[in-house]
Amino acid sequence: MSTLGWPALRQAVADCRACGLCQSRKQTVFGSGHLQAQWLLVGEAPGEQEDEQGQPFVGAAGQLLDRMLAALGLTRAEDGPQPPEQRVYIANTLKCRPPRNRNPSAEELASCEPFLVRQVELLKPRLILALGRYAVNALLRSDEPIGKLRGRVHRYEGVPVIVSYHPAYLLRSPHEKAKAWEDLCLAASVYEADAGR
Ligand code: URA
Repeated sequence: MSTLGWPALRQAVADCRACGLCQSRKQTVFGSGHLQAQWLLVGEAPGEQEDEQGQPFVGAAGQLLDRMLAALGLTRAEDGPQPPEQRVYIANTLKCRPPRNRNPSAEELASCEPFLVRQVELLKPRLILALGRYAVNALLRSDEPIGKLRGRVHRYEGVPVIVSYHPAYLLRSPHEKAKAWEDLCLAASVYEADAGR
């Protein structure tokens, strides 16, 4: 895994049969965004629409996420004129949809993790935003609630990590949106400070 480039990694995900999710998925969801993006967003797992379309965060949660990113001048578009500092790449901890959107199991997370690890190695992001508890657990090995981890800078392999709520949670708990916006603003200021070094 640690020697694969982007095309081979994408193919390895498409061919993966390491856990039982390969039997129920329609297709794998590798990730999306420009390969020079300097921001990496990590979510949980594909839902129904992502499984249909093969792209992460295309359902209602993704639309909310896109609006929040746009408010900061960020885009996940793979082409267009934006410089790398305004681009985000989006990946999930699981590349296949769990049936009926149930929570990922520990075994599924463990077998899928090497793909995310390699995505981070290849992308070399300047900042990572961990959205929700599965992303936090994969990147920071922490089971602490998001509310306890947000608001400060963590590190993954030296890269600053900001923790925030999962957009699907924000759809269910709109009163938390202000905190998620604070998290994005913190991420932007950490990114700026890091870029200035
Ligand atoms: N939720 C996620 O965590 N990822 C997706 O791709 C879609 C919904």
